[in-house]
Amino acid sequence: MSRGGGRGHVRVRTARGRTAQSTRWLERQLNDPYVRRAKAEGYRSRAAYKLTELDEKFGFLKGARRVVDLGVAPGGWTQVVRRVLPKAAVVGIDLLPVDPIEGATLLQMDFMDDAAPDKLIEALGGMPDLILSDMAANTVGHPQTDALRTMALVETAFDFALKTLAPGGDFVAKVFAGGADSALIAEMKRAFATVKHAKPPASRKGSVEWYVVAQGFKGRSEPASEPEQEQQ
Ligand SMILES: C[S@@+](CC[C@H](N)C(=O)[O-])C[C@H]1O[C@@H](n2cnc3c(N)ncnc32)[C@H](O)[C@@H]1O
Repeated sequence: MSRGGGRGHVRVRTARGRTAQSTRWLERQLNDPYVRRAKAEGYRSRAAYKLTELDEKFGFLKGARRVVDLGVAPGGWTQVVRRVLPKAAVVGIDLLPVDPIEGATLLQMDFMDDAAPDKLIEALGGMPDLILSDMAANTVGHPQTDALRTMALVETAFDFALKTLAPGGDFVAKVFAGGADSALIAEMKRAFATVKHAKPPASRKGSVEWYVVAQGFKGRSEPASEPEQEQQ
């Protein structure tokens, strides 16, 4: 590793056993101001700043009392929520184990598992007023497949929001390639007062990652009552 290129830029020499791709990744990490800032400010991931920047723009954290963090590992978003909302109940879920975060309940399980919604609500102790999803499927390197797999996660997260969110609540989710598909967006627009897309500055320019921010959940309409049987 050497310093070159001015302004403290760190250059990484390709070492034996290190691929060109991992050398590029290491160099990018070492020169990323968000990675440095996360280290200095005690955040586990640079992703923490994506949530902070989205919140600066949309203000969904203010007033939230019960928060769900889908795809929580390694925990940057939940750390932000805990710092901004020290009194809120926070429950996170991930396939991966997450080191404890004071004041948060962390479940290690697949969100796509049928049992996950009940487990989340049980751990939260009531209806969430903010559902965050930074879930991303492991990429297979085939852009369409990767986008489809992430869309399936977004759709399931949106379905969870429709079933559990408190009226007036907000839903924030990572989507790929400029946005969610138009049918999903249309459904979101029916269910929320506003639906916007944003790419926070901390989201790398080269990545296809965007976020959809849906605010002001209109609530569930009461299930239609059974029509009365006509007496014969
Ligand atoms: C980009 S990371 C989240 C980073 C996190 N927001 C932070 O600030 O540290 C995406 C996470 O989604 C998780 N994930 C993907 N599919 C999942 C699923 N089906 N159930 C639960 N978590 C999932 C991955 O394991 C991964 O940890």
